[in-house]
Amino acid sequence: MQAMQTDLISEELRNRFEGATRVLVLTGAGISAESGVPTFRGGGNTAVWKGMPFDVISSARMVERDLPAVWEWFDYRRSLLQTLQPNPAHYEIARWADLFPEFTLVTQNVDGLHRTAGSREVIELHGSVWRARCLSCRTSYEILPHEQRLANCAGCGSYLRPDVVLFGEMLPPGAFEAAAEAAAACELCFVIGTSALVYPAASLPEIAKAAGAYLCEVNPERTPLSAICDEVLTGKAGEVLPLIGKS
Ligand code: OAD
Ligand code: ZN
Repeated sequence: MQAMQTDLISEELRNRFEGATRVLVLTGAGISAESGVPTFRGGGNTAVWKGMPFDVISSARMVERDLPAVWEWFDYRRSLLQTLQPNPAHYEIARWADLFPEFTLVTQNVDGLHRTAGSREVIELHGSVWRARCLSCRTSYEILPHEQRLANCAGCGSYLRPDVVLFGEMLPPGAFEAAAEAAAACELCFVIGTSALVYPAASLPEIAKAAGAYLCEVNPERTPLSAICDEVLTGKAGEVLPLIGKS
């Protein structure tokens, strides 16, 4: 059984993993699925909050119209998240950071589980529910689990909002550019647990591939990216990732 499992990983991928100096990992909601975080697409998600569809309550327009309602939704999400733990996939990726001279972790997730698992540098393309940001001066504040969050900016007194990318908003300045630069320079790129439908995040593996990287997807289902991948590992991230670094 053990032999069959490790056979999932090709000799080619093993060799590249051992020899790589520049590695990029892009993760999406699927990497947190085994921790109990619902994904956005495909079954069992929280599509509605107090009668409002997800893309209405999580929108730039709602921040203007009803900031307390937006906070109520994000406070609720944090209260759920603080009971959840990272899974073996998050821990394995945290370990990878020390294996390669250059390692870049880019996530679309706002749940903070990569950091909890020990990843120190994470490009959070869509922000984090564990941060608040000033509406005026953009100063950002960490929100600690089990602690009361600030309502106003300590510097200028303006209201704070969740530091996440809402529907209808741009990505945080510089985040995508830094990720794209790493994608263009990497030799090995993993795309883990993302439906690869949301741009510009989904363009990162395309950039890596176009620049000559070996592209490997980890997902129980096929995605629009599968066709351009050099290797598709069909399975759950928490089960597949620990096999990759094992000889
Ligand atoms: P999706 O919900 O679109 O896709 C989740 C993917 O994870 C699917 O392809 C699943 O097949 C896969 N999956 C499920 N369980 C898995 C497991 N155990 N291991 C590996 N993969 C698994 O999530 P994202 O691609 O992250 O944006 O969605 C992208 C963006 O859409 C999100 O960041 C969010 C949303 O709008 C913002 O909030 C700005
Ligand atoms: Zn401020």
